[in-house]
Amino acid sequence: MIVAVVIIKTMNKRIRLFPYGTMVNDENHLVVGGCDVVELMAKYGTPLYLFDELTLRNRCREFKSEFGKRYADITVVYASKAFLHTAIAVLLKEEGYGMDVVSGGELYIAETANFPMDKVYFHGNNKSADELNTALKCCVGRIVVDNYNELCALAKLTENGGYTQDILLRVTPGVDAHTHSHIATGGFSSKFGFSLDNVEDGISHAMSLPCLNLVGLHFHVGSLIGEVKPYLDAISVVLGLAAEMKEKHGFVLKEFNIGGGYSVPYTTEDIIPEIAYYAEQIAECITNTCQSLRLKLPHLVIEPGRSIVAQAGVALYRVGNIKDAAGLVRYVAVDGGMADNIRPALYSARYEAVLANRMNEDNIEQVTIAGHFCESSDILVHGIKLPQVNIGDIIAIPVCGAYCLPMGSNYNAALKPPIVMLSDGCDRLIRRRETYQDLTHCDVG
Ligand code: LLP
Repeated sequence: MIVAVVIIKTMNKRIRLFPYGTMVNDENHLVVGGCDVVELMAKYGTPLYLFDELTLRNRCREFKSEFGKRYADITVVYASKAFLHTAIAVLLKEEGYGMDVVSGGELYIAETANFPMDKVYFHGNNKSADELNTALKCCVGRIVVDNYNELCALAKLTENGGYTQDILLRVTPGVDAHTHSHIATGGFSSKFGFSLDNVEDGISHAMSLPCLNLVGLHFHVGSLIGEVKPYLDAISVVLGLAAEMKEKHGFVLKEFNIGGGYSVPYTTEDIIPEIAYYAEQIAECITNTCQSLRLKLPHLVIEPGRSIVAQAGVALYRVGNIKDAAGLVRYVAVDGGMADNIRPALYSARYEAVLANRMNEDNIEQVTIAGHFCESSDILVHGIKLPQVNIGDIIAIPVCGAYCLPMGSNYNAALKPPIVMLSDGCDRLIRRRETYQDLTHCDVG
């Protein structure tokens, strides 16, 4: 596919939110991953999700190098709940990443992609006995034990099955992450992890169990953390705990897993720290705190999810209807919505959009982009300026790579959209569109 690039008169600031190398061709079409999205729409239909391989790999490498040059002993683990597909698992394996899984399902996908199991971290606040057994059988690298009941259950399973398993304990540091309450996990009232007042029992019990090898501690303060302070606060709480446990029980913190949560810009107004800034502050804080607490520097593990995949993903929709409501709102209705992206309805998440088939026209009219589902909360973008929109136009929404498809549903018996991977001008279908037959596939009787 040959792409002629034109100089854009007024460069659309929103382009910066799209995958690396996104541009506009001489037909005024959006070009992502070297591919004209209007041609992709003609080939695959709408709604359609695109992922750009270059952006995925660049983000993987940026995390590794920015953290790696400031803290040598580090493993980067991708939080697969942000978006998982066997193609992603293969890419992560090639990039030397570990993987955080949170269910038997994510574990299954990792296994199917032949992902190295010793690099898998198994999370979850209520892992079933089946899931724990599967994780033990697969020889996952770490089970991140969330609570005392799980510790006891895992101890029995390892003993009965003759396994020895490396574990971390997840600690709730009691830190406010200043993010949406739905995705804050570090506060005292969180459902996740050992709280500070009972973690000592967990640590001393874990240390006494012959089949479990307690290698360290984990925390995750939440997601979409647009500042560094919550990490620094949590680091000092958990390292303080480690020093106290060393003193009281001889506990050695070999591994310190500080979770994910690194934010990304969703709109042109969002100001988010660079990865380098997170890395610098975090590495410095761990180094200094360990020094003052006389702790040996632990192996550091980070678990970014969103920040690896968000920018790589683009959602494409076709406009099917336009409605002026009481002269107050102009609704532009598209053929997807809350079933493929629940985030605006669930977290009031804000997105930008462009008219992918008329990129160089000025944004002159204020519209609200609505989905086609039977619910008034099914709005993808509230009040955004676009060129005059016509029925048949193509709307492209950037930063849709994280948590849109994994949280997708078949609401209104909608068919889940296909996914196309773009690499340097080539497009590859990695998930087909669902069919009506898929909708009744699991029905029995
Ligand atoms: N580690 C643990 C233990 C986690 O629970 C999570 C995310 C991560 C790492 C990765 O966090 P990230 O780097 O992606 O922020 N559905 C929400 C986000 C939920 C995040 C859940 N845990 C959303 O759409 O914003």
